[in-house]
Amino acid sequence: MKIDKIVKNFKSIQKGELKPIKPLSVYGLDIIACKNLNKQFMGIKAIDNLTINIPQAQTTGLIGPNGSGKTTLMNILTGMLKPDSGEIRVRDKIRKRIKSHELRKYRIARTFQDGRLIEQLSVEDNLLLPVADNTIFGGLKEVKQDDYKARMEQVLEITSLTEHRHKKAEELSYGLRKLLEIGRLLMQDAEINFFDEPFTGLFPEIVEKVCDIIGGLQKQGKTIVIIEHNMGLIKRLSDHIIVLDHGTLLAEGRPDFVLKNKAVREAYLGV
Ligand SMILES: Nc1ncnc2c1ncn2[C@@H]1O[C@H](COP(=O)(O)OP(=O)(O)OP(=O)(O)O)[C@@H](O)[C@H]1O
Ligand SMILES: [Mg+2]
Repeated sequence: MKIDKIVKNFKSIQKGELKPIKPLSVYGLDIIACKNLNKQFMGIKAIDNLTINIPQAQTTGLIGPNGSGKTTLMNILTGMLKPDSGEIRVRDKIRKRIKSHELRKYRIARTFQDGRLIEQLSVEDNLLLPVADNTIFGGLKEVKQDDYKARMEQVLEITSLTEHRHKKAEELSYGLRKLLEIGRLLMQDAEINFFDEPFTGLFPEIVEKVCDIIGGLQKQGKTIVIIEHNMGLIKRLSDHIIVLDHGTLLAEGRPDFVLKNKAVREAYLGV
């Protein structure tokens, strides 16, 4: 690409224009983005005219004070919530909203802040549910026969859940439940992976395990977005940071640069 075109693309990103052109930012291509996005809950602006770009094959730390709109943004980008207005672009497709049944098509997967395990199902079945075409229990046996079986073995190994595979989700400790939640994401082999507070409440050795799992995804060139309040982990894992405040973009950029920013330190870090 010629240099003037790169500069022009970069300027259009800076202005917040969303173009279906594979824009080139300082972080490389972006893969998912929103423009002038709005979402209110009973008059509270959870997302307020927000325009951001998530770089492809990079890890983005999504940070901000409690109630700043991080989970709401993730819910909108993963089809759990319909925005009031604005646009979402996934690769070159511009949409008013993403629908939850389209996630597989867009190769998007996520974990939940509050966990979404099916308590009465086994670890194995919880892993298979996200990849089963048919979520009616009868369908699960068929899924086990096909390609997912090999992937499930790998995921059980990576998440240290092999010995717990036949236990019901409700029998697992808190840490293992968080790993099972991540295992469900890994089963989907998505390209864009969202994690909503994957480290909260974990013992140090499980924190390290989750860091290793995320490191594995990074090596595979996956796009990762992590919501996390622990700045040490955010600095360690992120290539790029987006800071939200009252549903707006407070700052974005390289971790060192963003975490030194005066407005970020005042609004978020309280220093
Ligand atoms: N379903 C909902 N109904 C009503 N208000 C909501 C709902 N979801 C979020 N909100 C409100 O929207 C705002 C943003 O909430 P959100 O959960 O996105 O914040 P967050 O940045 O993820 O916070 P935290 O760090 O505490 O998880 C808050 O004021 C919250 O109370
Ligand atoms: Mg949240």
